[in-house]
Amino acid sequence: MPPRKVADVNRRMDVAMRAAREAGALLRSMIGTDLNVRSKDVRTDLVTEADTKSEALVRSIISDAFPGEAFLGEETGASGDPSRGRWIVDPLDGTTNYAHGYRCFSVSIAFEQRGVVQLGCVFDPMADEFFAAERGAGASCNGVPIRVSGCGDLRAAMLVTGFPAHRVDDPLSNIHPFGDFLEITRAIRRDGSAALDLCYVACGRFDGFWEPGLHAWDIAAGSLICTEAGGRVSGYRGEALVLDGGQLVASNGIIHDRMTEVVAKYA
Ligand code: IPD
Ligand code: CA
Ligand code: CA
Repeated sequence: MPPRKVADVNRRMDVAMRAAREAGALLRSMIGTDLNVRSKDVRTDLVTEADTKSEALVRSIISDAFPGEAFLGEETGASGDPSRGRWIVDPLDGTTNYAHGYRCFSVSIAFEQRGVVQLGCVFDPMADEFFAAERGAGASCNGVPIRVSGCGDLRAAMLVTGFPAHRVDDPLSNIHPFGDFLEITRAIRRDGSAALDLCYVACGRFDGFWEPGLHAWDIAAGSLICTEAGGRVSGYRGEALVLDGGQLVASNGIIHDRMTEVVAKYA
C-alpha cells in the first residue's frame, strides 16, 4: 500500500477505535438505568435511550474527524454520498440483551469503499475486548493477533446463530436450519450480538455462525475481522457476501462448504 494510503487507514482506524471505546464506555455507564425501552415497527425490535445516545456520540466523533463523509447508522439511517466511502455503524449490537441486563453486546464500526470493507472494529465494553481488523493486515483482539479454529469436522463443531428481531413476516425462518444443525453438530449457542458472534468465530471460540435477516451494520466490521483471521464469510449458497443480503454463513473456512450444504436449501 502506498504510504499516503497507509496513513489514511491508520487515521481512520484511530478515529473508529476512539469512537467505539467512548460509545462502549457510555453503554457501560447506562446499563441498568432507566432506558426508555420502546419497540420500533414490530414488538420484538427494541430501541433504547442507549442506542440513540451511542449513535449520536459515534456520529459526532466521526463527523468531526471526517466532515461530510457518508454514514449509515442503524438508528439514524443513511446520509451523505457513499461513492467516496461510507461509515457503517451499529451503536449497540445486542439491544435486547442490553435492555434485559444480559451483558453481551457491542459497538460495531466499519469503513467501506466501493462496496469493500476496509477496516472494522467491534468493542465489547463488559469484557473489555476490542476486536479490530484492517484489510490485508490481519485481525486482533486487544492488540494480539487472532486466528479461527482448526475444527475440520462439523460433528465436532460449536456453532452460534441468531433469530432476527424483525421476524413477523417469516417467524420460522431460522427454525429449520437450527434443527438441521442441532442434529449434526456438537453444540449451538445463541448469544444475541451478531457482531460479537463473528468476532468469536474469528478468535476460534465458535467454529461457525449462520443467521438470516442481518443488516450491513450488524456484520460489516465483524465479517472483515473474521476473514482477516483466516475465516470465510458468504451467503447461504456460498456466494460472495452481500452486506445487506440478510443471510450469512461465517466459519473457520474448513467447515464452510459443509455449513452451506445445510443452509443452501433455505436460501
Ligand atoms: C441484533 C443482534 C442479534 C441478531 C439480530 C440483530 P440489534 O442486532 O445482532 O444477535 O440476532 O438479528 O438485529 O438489533 O441488537 O442491533
Ligand atoms: Ca445489530
Ligand atoms: Ca443495534
